[in-house]
Amino acid sequence: MNILGIETSCDETAAAVVESTKEGELRLLSNVIASSVDLHAAYGGVVPEIAARSHLEHINPVINRALSEAKQEWNQVDAIAVTQGPGLSGSLMVGVLTARTLAILRSKPLLAVNHVEAHVYGAFITEVTRSLNDYSLPAQQPVFPLLALIVSGGHSQLVLFRDHSNYQVLGRTLDDAVGEAFDKVAKIIGLPYPGGPSIEKIAKSGDPEKYPFPKAKLDNAYDFSFSGLKTAVLRTAQAEIGKDFTFPSHEVAAHLTAVQQRDIAASFQKTAFDTLTSALLKAAERYRPKSVVVAGGVAASQALREMLADRLQQEIIYPDIKLCTDNAGMIAANGAFQVQAERRPADPYSLEFLPSLSMGK
Ligand code: KG4
Ligand code: ZN
Repeated sequence: MNILGIETSCDETAAAVVESTKEGELRLLSNVIASSVDLHAAYGGVVPEIAARSHLEHINPVINRALSEAKQEWNQVDAIAVTQGPGLSGSLMVGVLTARTLAILRSKPLLAVNHVEAHVYGAFITEVTRSLNDYSLPAQQPVFPLLALIVSGGHSQLVLFRDHSNYQVLGRTLDDAVGEAFDKVAKIIGLPYPGGPSIEKIAKSGDPEKYPFPKAKLDNAYDFSFSGLKTAVLRTAQAEIGKDFTFPSHEVAAHLTAVQQRDIAASFQKTAFDTLTSALLKAAERYRPKSVVVAGGVAASQALREMLADRLQQEIIYPDIKLCTDNAGMIAANGAFQVQAERRPADPYSLEFLPSLSMGK
Protein backbone atom coordinates (compact mmCIF):
# COMPACT_ATOMS: atom_id res chain seq x y z
CA MET A 1 0.00 0.00 0.00
CA ASN A 2 1.33 3.46 -0.94
CA ILE A 3 0.39 6.66 0.85
CA LEU A 4 1.06 10.11 -0.56
CA GLY A 5 1.67 12.61 2.25
CA ILE A 6 1.23 16.37 1.88
CA GLU A 7 2.51 18.88 4.46
CA THR A 8 2.16 22.69 4.33
CA SER A 9 1.60 23.78 7.94
CA CYS A 10 4.40 26.32 8.20
CA ASP A 11 7.17 27.27 5.77
CA GLU A 12 7.95 23.90 4.19
CA THR A 13 6.03 22.68 1.16
CA ALA A 14 6.49 18.93 1.36
CA ALA A 15 5.25 15.75 -0.30
CA ALA A 16 6.39 12.17 0.22
CA VAL A 17 5.40 8.62 -0.59
CA VAL A 18 5.50 5.92 2.07
CA GLU A 19 4.97 2.25 1.30
CA SER A 20 3.57 0.13 4.06
CA THR A 21 4.54 -3.51 3.70
CA LYS A 22 2.48 -6.53 4.68
CA GLU A 23 4.54 -6.88 7.85
CA GLY A 24 3.57 -3.34 8.85
CA GLU A 25 7.02 -1.90 8.14
CA LEU A 26 7.10 1.58 6.62
CA ARG A 27 9.43 2.31 3.73
CA LEU A 28 10.05 5.85 2.56
CA LEU A 29 10.02 6.01 -1.25
CA SER A 30 10.48 9.77 -1.64
CA ASN A 31 10.69 12.81 0.60
CA VAL A 32 10.56 16.14 -1.24
CA ILE A 33 10.77 19.45 0.62
CA ALA A 34 10.74 22.98 -0.81
CA SER A 35 11.46 25.36 2.04
CA SER A 36 10.73 29.07 1.98
CA VAL A 37 13.00 29.54 5.03
CA ASP A 38 15.43 31.73 3.08
CA LEU A 39 12.61 34.11 2.17
CA HIS A 40 11.81 34.58 5.87
CA ALA A 41 15.38 34.90 7.14
CA ALA A 42 15.46 38.65 6.50
CA TYR A 43 12.47 39.08 8.85
CA GLY A 44 13.79 36.87 11.68
CA GLY A 45 10.73 34.62 11.59
CA VAL A 46 8.12 33.11 9.30
CA VAL A 47 5.93 35.69 7.52
CA PRO A 48 2.55 33.95 6.98
CA GLU A 49 1.66 35.66 3.67
CA ILE A 50 5.06 34.86 2.16
CA ALA A 51 4.76 31.24 3.30
CA ALA A 52 1.28 30.85 1.80
CA ARG A 53 2.30 32.32 -1.56
CA SER A 54 5.34 30.09 -1.64
CA HIS A 55 3.21 26.99 -0.96
CA LEU A 56 0.91 27.95 -3.82
CA GLU A 57 3.86 28.18 -6.17
CA HIS A 58 5.50 24.94 -5.08
CA ILE A 59 2.73 22.52 -4.15
CA ASN A 60 2.08 20.94 -7.55
CA PRO A 61 5.72 20.59 -8.61
CA VAL A 62 6.60 19.15 -5.18
CA ILE A 63 3.81 16.54 -5.36
CA ASN A 64 4.77 15.59 -8.92
CA ARG A 65 8.39 15.21 -7.88
CA ALA A 66 7.48 13.09 -4.87
CA LEU A 67 5.58 10.72 -7.16
CA SER A 68 8.24 10.58 -9.86
CA GLU A 69 11.10 10.08 -7.37
CA ALA A 70 9.07 7.27 -5.79
CA LYS A 71 8.52 5.87 -9.29
CA GLN A 72 4.79 5.83 -8.67
CA GLU A 73 1.92 6.56 -11.03
CA TRP A 74 -1.35 7.86 -9.66
CA ASN A 75 -2.96 4.44 -10.03
CA GLN A 76 -0.40 3.06 -7.56
CA VAL A 77 -1.32 5.57 -4.83
CA ASP A 78 -3.78 4.05 -2.33
CA ALA A 79 -4.56 7.11 -0.21
CA ILE A 80 -3.67 10.77 0.33
CA ALA A 81 -2.73 11.98 3.83
CA VAL A 82 -2.64 15.71 4.53
CA THR A 83 -1.79 17.92 7.50
CA GLN A 84 -5.08 19.32 8.76
CA GLY A 85 -3.50 21.40 11.54
CA PRO A 86 -2.17 22.99 13.61
CA GLY A 87 -0.34 25.65 11.67
CA LEU A 88 -0.70 28.88 9.75
CA SER A 89 -4.13 29.36 8.11
CA GLY A 90 -2.95 30.38 4.66
CA SER A 91 -0.34 27.63 4.61
CA LEU A 92 -2.69 24.87 5.77
CA MET A 93 -5.33 26.02 3.30
CA VAL A 94 -3.07 25.37 0.32
CA GLY A 95 -2.23 21.81 1.40
CA VAL A 96 -5.74 20.85 2.47
CA LEU A 97 -7.47 22.26 -0.62
CA THR A 98 -4.88 20.63 -2.89
CA ALA A 99 -5.32 17.26 -1.17
CA ARG A 100 -9.10 17.54 -1.32
CA THR A 101 -9.02 18.34 -5.02
CA LEU A 102 -6.66 15.45 -5.77
CA ALA A 103 -8.70 13.03 -3.64
CA ILE A 104 -11.83 13.93 -5.62
CA LEU A 105 -10.25 13.96 -9.08
CA ARG A 106 -8.15 10.83 -8.53
CA SER A 107 -10.78 9.01 -6.44
CA LYS A 108 -8.50 8.37 -3.45
CA PRO A 109 -9.38 8.12 0.26
CA LEU A 110 -8.35 11.31 2.08
CA LEU A 111 -6.77 11.10 5.54
CA ALA A 112 -6.59 14.07 7.89
CA VAL A 113 -3.40 14.20 9.96
CA ASN A 114 -2.51 16.11 13.13
CA HIS A 115 0.93 17.62 12.44
CA VAL A 116 2.17 17.43 16.03
CA GLU A 117 1.13 13.80 16.46
CA ALA A 118 2.71 13.01 13.08
CA HIS A 119 6.13 14.22 14.28
CA VAL A 120 6.28 11.00 16.34
CA TYR A 121 5.45 8.91 13.26
CA GLY A 122 8.70 9.86 11.57
CA ALA A 123 10.18 7.35 14.03
CA PHE A 124 8.02 4.53 12.60
CA ILE A 125 9.81 4.75 9.24
CA THR A 126 12.51 2.07 9.41
CA GLU A 127 13.33 1.57 5.72
CA VAL A 128 14.07 3.77 2.73
CA THR A 129 14.22 3.02 -0.93
CA ARG A 130 17.74 2.58 -2.31
CA SER A 131 17.92 6.02 -3.96
CA LEU A 132 17.48 7.73 -0.55
CA ASN A 133 20.76 6.50 0.81
CA ASP A 134 21.78 8.98 3.49
CA TYR A 135 19.10 8.28 6.07
CA SER A 136 19.92 7.11 9.55
CA LEU A 137 16.85 5.19 10.70
CA PRO A 138 15.71 3.34 13.81
CA ALA A 139 16.38 -0.40 13.55
CA GLN A 140 12.88 -1.19 14.75
CA GLN A 141 9.58 0.61 15.08
CA PRO A 142 8.81 1.98 18.55
CA VAL A 143 6.51 -0.12 20.72
CA PHE A 144 3.76 0.88 23.13
CA PRO A 145 3.53 2.29 25.70
CA LEU A 146 5.55 4.98 23.99
CA LEU A 147 6.68 8.17 25.66
CA ALA A 148 7.20 10.99 23.16
CA LEU A 149 8.82 14.39 23.55
CA ILE A 150 7.71 16.53 20.63
CA VAL A 151 9.78 19.68 20.39
CA SER A 152 9.53 22.10 17.48
CA GLY A 153 9.12 25.73 16.57
CA GLY A 154 5.42 25.54 17.28
CA HIS A 155 5.13 22.86 19.97
CA SER A 156 6.66 21.38 23.09
CA GLN A 157 4.71 18.47 24.47
CA LEU A 158 5.26 15.33 26.42
CA VAL A 159 2.83 12.63 25.33
CA LEU A 160 2.23 9.06 26.47
CA PHE A 161 0.92 6.88 23.62
CA ARG A 162 -0.79 3.68 24.81
CA ASP A 163 -1.43 2.74 21.18
CA HIS A 164 -1.93 4.45 17.82
CA SER A 165 -4.38 7.35 18.27
CA ASN A 166 -4.69 6.50 21.96
CA TYR A 167 -2.62 8.95 23.91
CA GLN A 168 -2.52 11.22 26.91
CA VAL A 169 -0.83 14.61 26.83
CA LEU A 170 1.21 14.66 30.05
CA GLY A 171 2.49 18.19 29.64
CA ARG A 172 2.77 21.05 27.23
CA THR A 173 4.26 24.50 27.04
CA LEU A 174 2.29 27.19 28.80
CA ASP A 175 3.70 29.91 26.56
CA ASP A 176 6.48 29.74 23.96
CA ALA A 177 7.47 26.48 22.27
CA VAL A 178 11.12 25.59 22.83
CA GLY A 179 12.08 26.12 19.16
CA GLU A 180 10.31 29.47 19.26
CA ALA A 181 12.40 30.42 22.32
CA PHE A 182 15.56 29.54 20.36
CA ASP A 183 14.35 31.69 17.46
CA LYS A 184 13.57 34.65 19.74
CA VAL A 185 16.82 34.41 21.71
CA ALA A 186 18.79 34.16 18.46
CA LYS A 187 17.16 37.39 17.33
CA ILE A 188 18.03 39.15 20.61
CA ILE A 189 21.69 38.17 20.46
CA GLY A 190 21.99 38.77 16.72
CA LEU A 191 22.07 35.28 15.19
CA PRO A 192 20.30 34.26 11.98
CA TYR A 193 16.91 32.53 11.76
CA PRO A 194 16.20 29.68 12.40
CA GLY A 195 17.67 30.16 15.84
CA GLY A 196 18.17 26.53 16.89
CA PRO A 197 21.00 25.63 14.52
CA SER A 198 22.68 29.05 14.82
CA ILE A 199 22.66 28.92 18.61
CA GLU A 200 23.91 25.32 18.62
CA LYS A 201 26.81 26.28 16.38
CA ILE A 202 28.23 29.11 18.51
CA ALA A 203 27.25 27.48 21.83
CA LYS A 204 29.97 24.90 21.17
CA SER A 205 32.64 27.48 21.97
CA GLY A 206 30.66 29.23 24.74
CA ASP A 207 30.60 28.70 28.51
CA PRO A 208 27.27 27.08 29.49
CA GLU A 209 27.88 27.90 33.18
CA LYS A 210 28.54 31.61 32.66
CA TYR A 211 24.96 32.78 33.14
CA PRO A 212 22.77 30.80 35.58
CA PHE A 213 19.41 31.35 33.90
CA PRO A 214 16.25 30.47 35.85
CA LYS A 215 14.14 27.38 35.26
CA ALA A 216 10.38 27.77 35.51
CA LYS A 217 8.77 26.05 38.50
CA LEU A 218 5.36 24.78 37.47
CA ASP A 219 2.57 22.88 39.22
CA ASN A 220 2.63 20.08 36.65
CA ALA A 221 6.16 18.63 36.47
CA TYR A 222 5.61 17.76 32.80
CA ASP A 223 4.61 21.25 31.65
CA PHE A 224 7.09 23.71 30.18
CA SER A 225 7.42 27.47 30.11
CA PHE A 226 10.12 29.25 28.15
CA SER A 227 9.01 32.86 28.03
CA GLY A 228 10.60 33.67 31.42
CA LEU A 229 13.88 32.21 30.19
CA LYS A 230 13.73 34.34 27.07
CA THR A 231 13.12 37.46 29.18
CA ALA A 232 16.01 36.50 31.49
CA VAL A 233 18.28 36.30 28.43
CA LEU A 234 17.18 39.75 27.35
CA ARG A 235 17.74 41.25 30.84
CA THR A 236 21.18 39.63 31.10
CA ALA A 237 22.17 40.88 27.65
CA GLN A 238 20.97 44.39 28.50
CA ALA A 239 22.91 44.34 31.78
CA GLU A 240 26.06 42.98 30.10
CA ILE A 241 26.15 45.94 27.71
CA GLY A 242 25.56 48.38 30.59
CA LYS A 243 21.95 49.23 29.80
CA ASP A 244 18.70 48.84 31.75
CA PHE A 245 15.47 46.99 30.89
CA THR A 246 14.14 49.92 28.83
CA PHE A 247 16.86 49.49 26.21
CA PRO A 248 15.22 48.21 22.96
CA SER A 249 15.76 44.48 22.42
CA HIS A 250 16.48 44.88 18.71
CA GLU A 251 19.46 47.13 19.50
CA VAL A 252 21.08 44.80 22.05
CA ALA A 253 22.89 42.52 19.58
CA ALA A 254 24.94 45.33 18.05
CA HIS A 255 26.57 46.01 21.47
CA LEU A 256 27.38 42.42 22.48
CA THR A 257 30.92 41.10 22.13
CA ALA A 258 31.45 37.73 20.42
CA VAL A 259 32.35 36.18 23.81
CA GLN A 260 29.18 37.49 25.47
CA GLN A 261 27.14 36.28 22.51
CA ARG A 262 28.42 32.70 22.64
CA ASP A 263 28.31 32.47 26.46
CA ILE A 264 24.68 33.60 26.43
CA ALA A 265 23.93 31.11 23.64
CA ALA A 266 25.58 28.25 25.53
CA SER A 267 23.95 29.11 28.89
CA PHE A 268 20.52 29.53 27.32
CA GLN A 269 20.79 26.28 25.35
CA LYS A 270 21.87 24.37 28.45
CA THR A 271 19.00 25.72 30.56
CA ALA A 272 16.39 25.03 27.85
CA PHE A 273 17.60 21.47 27.25
CA ASP A 274 17.94 20.83 30.97
CA THR A 275 14.25 21.65 31.33
CA LEU A 276 13.28 19.22 28.55
CA THR A 277 15.58 16.48 29.83
CA SER A 278 14.33 16.71 33.45
CA ALA A 279 10.68 16.47 32.37
CA LEU A 280 11.34 13.51 30.07
CA LEU A 281 13.34 11.77 32.77
CA LYS A 282 10.59 12.23 35.34
CA ALA A 283 7.94 10.90 32.97
CA ALA A 284 10.09 7.91 31.98
CA GLU A 285 10.58 7.00 35.66
CA ARG A 286 6.89 7.30 36.41
CA TYR A 287 5.37 5.62 33.31
CA ARG A 288 8.13 3.12 32.43
CA PRO A 289 7.51 3.25 28.67
CA LYS A 290 8.76 0.48 26.37
CA SER A 291 9.98 3.10 23.85
CA VAL A 292 10.99 6.74 24.07
CA VAL A 293 10.81 8.91 20.95
CA VAL A 294 12.14 12.46 20.68
CA ALA A 295 10.93 14.25 17.55
CA GLY A 296 10.32 17.67 16.02
CA GLY A 297 12.74 20.26 14.67
CA VAL A 298 14.56 20.70 17.99
CA ALA A 299 15.35 16.95 18.10
CA ALA A 300 17.81 17.70 15.31
CA SER A 301 20.07 19.21 18.00
CA GLN A 302 23.17 17.17 18.70
CA ALA A 303 23.57 19.00 22.03
CA LEU A 304 20.11 17.88 23.16
CA ARG A 305 20.82 14.31 22.06
CA GLU A 306 24.04 14.25 24.05
CA MET A 307 22.38 15.57 27.20
CA LEU A 308 19.55 13.03 26.92
CA ALA A 309 21.98 10.16 26.31
CA ASP A 310 23.92 11.21 29.43
CA ARG A 311 20.91 11.31 31.70
CA LEU A 312 18.37 8.80 30.43
CA GLN A 313 19.12 5.11 30.92
CA GLN A 314 16.79 4.01 28.18
CA GLU A 315 17.72 4.18 24.52
CA ILE A 316 15.98 7.00 22.67
CA ILE A 317 14.54 6.55 19.20
CA TYR A 318 15.04 9.53 16.88
CA PRO A 319 13.64 9.88 13.39
CA ASP A 320 16.31 10.71 10.82
CA ILE A 321 17.08 14.45 10.95
CA LYS A 322 15.29 14.92 7.60
CA LEU A 323 12.25 13.36 9.27
CA CYS A 324 12.64 15.48 12.45
CA THR A 325 12.12 18.90 10.90
CA ASP A 326 8.88 19.40 8.98
CA ASN A 327 8.41 16.83 6.23
CA ALA A 328 5.63 14.87 4.54
CA GLY A 329 7.11 11.42 5.22
CA MET A 330 5.81 11.61 8.80
CA ILE A 331 2.38 12.69 7.50
CA ALA A 332 2.24 9.70 5.13
CA ALA A 333 3.45 7.40 7.94
CA ASN A 334 0.60 8.56 10.18
CA GLY A 335 -1.77 8.04 7.25
CA ALA A 336 -0.51 4.48 6.82
CA PHE A 337 -1.48 3.65 10.42
CA GLN A 338 -4.90 5.24 9.92
CA VAL A 339 -5.48 2.91 6.96
CA GLN A 340 -4.23 -0.09 8.95
CA ALA A 341 -6.57 0.82 11.81
CA GLU A 342 -9.40 1.16 9.27
CA ARG A 343 -10.11 4.70 10.42
CA ARG A 344 -12.83 6.32 8.35
CA PRO A 345 -11.39 8.63 5.68
CA ALA A 346 -12.28 12.32 5.67
CA ASP A 347 -14.89 13.80 3.34
CA PRO A 348 -12.92 15.43 0.51
CA TYR A 349 -15.82 17.83 -0.14
CA SER A 350 -15.81 19.28 3.35
CA LEU A 351 -12.52 18.64 5.22
CA GLU A 352 -11.60 21.86 7.01
CA PHE A 353 -8.11 22.98 7.92
CA LEU A 354 -7.73 23.62 11.65
CA PRO A 355 -5.02 26.18 12.57
CA SER A 356 -5.51 25.59 16.33
CA LEU A 357 -5.90 21.81 16.26
CA SER A 358 -4.29 20.40 19.40
CA MET A 359 -3.47 16.93 20.65
CA GLY A 360 -5.75 15.37 23.21
CA LYS A 361 -8.80 17.51 22.49
O1 KG4 B 1 9.59 20.88 13.42
P1 KG4 B 1 10.07 22.14 12.80
O2 KG4 B 1 10.82 22.04 11.50
O3 KG4 B 1 8.88 23.12 12.53
C1 KG4 B 1 7.80 23.29 13.38
O4 KG4 B 1 6.84 22.48 13.31
O5 KG4 B 1 7.89 24.22 14.20
O6 KG4 B 1 10.94 22.88 13.89
C2 KG4 B 1 11.59 24.09 13.63
C3 KG4 B 1 12.20 24.59 14.92
C4 KG4 B 1 12.77 25.99 14.83
O7 KG4 B 1 12.25 26.77 15.90
C5 KG4 B 1 14.27 25.78 14.98
O8 KG4 B 1 14.92 26.85 15.64
C6 KG4 B 1 14.33 24.50 15.81
O9 KG4 B 1 13.27 23.71 15.32
N1 KG4 B 1 15.62 23.81 15.64
C7 KG4 B 1 16.51 23.66 16.64
C8 KG4 B 1 17.66 23.04 16.06
N2 KG4 B 1 17.39 22.80 14.74
C9 KG4 B 1 16.13 23.27 14.52
N3 KG4 B 1 16.46 24.02 17.93
C10 KG4 B 1 17.54 23.77 18.69
N4 KG4 B 1 18.68 23.21 18.22
C11 KG4 B 1 18.78 22.83 16.92
N5 KG4 B 1 19.89 22.28 16.47
ZN1 ZN C 1 6.63 20.59 12.86
